[in-house]
Amino acid sequence: MMISKKMTDKLNEQVKHEFFAQWTYLAMAYSFETMNLKGFAKWFFAQAEEEKGHAMKIAQYLLDQGAEVKLTALDAPKTDYSSAEEIVAGAVEHEIKVTRMINDLVDLAKSENDHATGAFLQWFVNEQVEEVASTTELLEMVKMAAEPGQLLMLESRLSRE
Ligand code: FEO
Repeated sequence: MMISKKMTDKLNEQVKHEFFAQWTYLAMAYSFETMNLKGFAKWFFAQAEEEKGHAMKIAQYLLDQGAEVKLTALDAPKTDYSSAEEIVAGAVEHEIKVTRMINDLVDLAKSENDHATGAFLQWFVNEQVEEVASTTELLEMVKMAAEPGQLLMLESRLSRE
């Protein structure tokens, strides 16, 4: 194994966090389906797929480094949302939390002089900038759509994306 036991454990935890993000975004997508906001649902289903991709990318890195991938049980994601704004604000909060986790992993790689993992994590550092920006932009648009008609216009724009 080319990476430390501590790094292996932390990366396995991150695999779990990314799969949890997939579940969280699926729950958000299904809530939008329930609200008949199918454009928003489509956006969140796509996010969920991205999160699955993140989890599998880290799992593949563990394998490439000769480490074991250990999947563990996921908590149930939140499902009781009452508005589009609450959901999108939850997504922003979630991405900020994941950004902190990625930064902690980068700090660990630095402290262990683990250059390979540091380089691998750079992709995630950049991805988090994009994810925080795109969820924040969506939240700003939802906040501006104060009238139901404006929300439907946003909804139709997301359906076409
Ligand atoms: Fe995998 Fe949206 O962080």
